[in-house]
Amino acid sequence: MDFSRPHIKKRIMIASAALVAAMGGAGWFYIDQLPKADPNDAALVQHGQQIYAVNCASCHGAQLEGQPSWQKPLPTGHLPAPPHNQSGHTWHHPDEVLFHVIMAGTTYESDMPAFQGLLSDHDVWATLSFIKSTWPEEIRRKQPSLSPEQKDALKRLASERSANAR
Ligand code: HEC
Repeated sequence: MDFSRPHIKKRIMIASAALVAAMGGAGWFYIDQLPKADPNDAALVQHGQQIYAVNCASCHGAQLEGQPSWQKPLPTGHLPAPPHNQSGHTWHHPDEVLFHVIMAGTTYESDMPAFQGLLSDHDVWATLSFIKSTWPEEIRRKQPSLSPEQKDALKRLASERSANAR
């Protein structure tokens, strides 16, 4: 195939433009390259604490305690906001999954808002750093890392979303 022919060149250009748009539409698409939350970075934790107080505490509690009876569905059928401290199940999920939930909301109907467009990647990593800083060492150690299945699922969700955004 002769790639120098103008119409083929144009097609390649269009394909790369679409790819760039897909990447730009979800800056957090490249899961491998995502930074990690760091509960030992004091400045990051402090920034996260401020983000949490303004954006999350109203539902998840000022002390990360969640809403009362958080395991019992509300009359709407939705679940209340769970705690983010060690008594909840936030630490049952890897950082990347939590990052995704905060940015995109849950994959099913729930009261958890999507923060994409409202908070930057940095803000969300900071918030997760703050949340993790409240966990005892033992809980931090127990938190699982991303499984290959979760990684595939996250990639799929991110590319679907950037396709829908176009
Ligand atoms: C309007 C209320 C509300 C606000 C504000 C809110 N959340 Fe949530 N969040 C929820 C609810 C409700 C759920 C549970 C959804 C479900 O499981 O059906 C949830 C779930 C989550 C989960 C999944 C937790 C787990 O244990 O599996 C994470 C992580 C989370 N929220 C983080 C945040 C962060 C960080 C913020 C602030 C940037 C925030 N939320 C703001 C209501 C809220």
